[in-house]
Amino acid sequence: MKVDFANLQHQYQLYKTDIDERIHQVLNKSNYIMGSEISELESELSEFTNSNHAISCSSGTDALTLALMAIGIKPGDEVITSPFSFIATAETITLLQATPIFVDIDPVTYNIDSSKVEEAITENTRAIIPVSLYGQPSDLDEIRKVAVSHDLKVIVDGAQSFGATYKGKSEVQYCDVYTTSFFPSKPLGCYGDGGAVLTNNSEYAERIRMMRVHGQSKRYQHKLTGIAGRLDTIQAAVLLAKLPHYENEIELRESVANSYSELLSELISQDIPPCILQDRTSVFAQYTIKVENRNIVRDRLLSKGIPTAVHYPLPIHKQECYQSVCERQGSFEVSESVSKVVLSLPMNAFLSQKDIVNVTSSLAEAINDTQYN
Ligand SMILES: Cc1ncc(COP(=O)(O)O)c(C=O)c1O
Repeated sequence: MKVDFANLQHQYQLYKTDIDERIHQVLNKSNYIMGSEISELESELSEFTNSNHAISCSSGTDALTLALMAIGIKPGDEVITSPFSFIATAETITLLQATPIFVDIDPVTYNIDSSKVEEAITENTRAIIPVSLYGQPSDLDEIRKVAVSHDLKVIVDGAQSFGATYKGKSEVQYCDVYTTSFFPSKPLGCYGDGGAVLTNNSEYAERIRMMRVHGQSKRYQHKLTGIAGRLDTIQAAVLLAKLPHYENEIELRESVANSYSELLSELISQDIPPCILQDRTSVFAQYTIKVENRNIVRDRLLSKGIPTAVHYPLPIHKQECYQSVCERQGSFEVSESVSKVVLSLPMNAFLSQKDIVNVTSSLAEAINDTQYN
């Protein structure tokens, strides 16, 4: 019995009528670039997060670039972020010729350790980018407090967390700019690359709207330097068809995660499930546990038709392209040790209880075997 990791095919079959119809409307109108679906989606995204502005764009990476450009990051600036993330978080800082300054992660949540942020601030620091890893927000109140006292901006990299809440509200309410990704396997995914920037700040919103279309204020009038950062109309159409189901999908993902955690606690004596703090919710972009002997466990699961993934096997400061940047920054021990044990299990809204039992019992068997062999 094979288990599907993200199960996009099942999701498509469920919403096929709406998705096909929405795509066909775009084909019939041939409004492929900045069609009316774009502004329709943007108002739905604002409403979903109760925020003033949503600007769709070409990817979660471009969303970060646009956010950094909007707050005015310049060459030589420093931006504090987590070394335990997808490369895009740091890469966008580097591409603007600024420097990512890494702060190690909290050993419980794997998000940036908010108690260590302040000591990383220098006279060149301009912003902090907490990453909502696996779908769980960081300590946004603590981070915002430090940011305000040092006059820094906060950009939340919410590529994995669209729809998560912190103290009952969307993360957009706790930062200057929030960015997300609609990569197909993200909790809310389109059928190609896509992303969005959300903010309550009208000035940033105006700049981002211009910058995603080459800094254009009117046709062929370029007020700012920008990028080719638009979302395709067809991708907006897919998202519009999926969005009405998203609240329900978040609940389903949460109940899959709860079932996983309950069964794992019964079957395995070590404390391996992820920890979601009381004052926030996760959308479980990933359900990530920690296991020793990861490669052997992965192989055992794969031989039973259970795919797994590793987010992430090598922290950013250890990547080859960051060697010169990170020479002076030293080591980040929690990130380094966590990267050796994290393992993401199949996670999607449509995992059946039978699948969950199969995954957890196969995992318990694999862990026991690797311990006693
Ligand atoms: C934390 C994080 N930031 C940024 C990105 C970049 O998003 P995209 O792949 O849409 O460019 C991702 C996507 O994997 C991510 O997980």
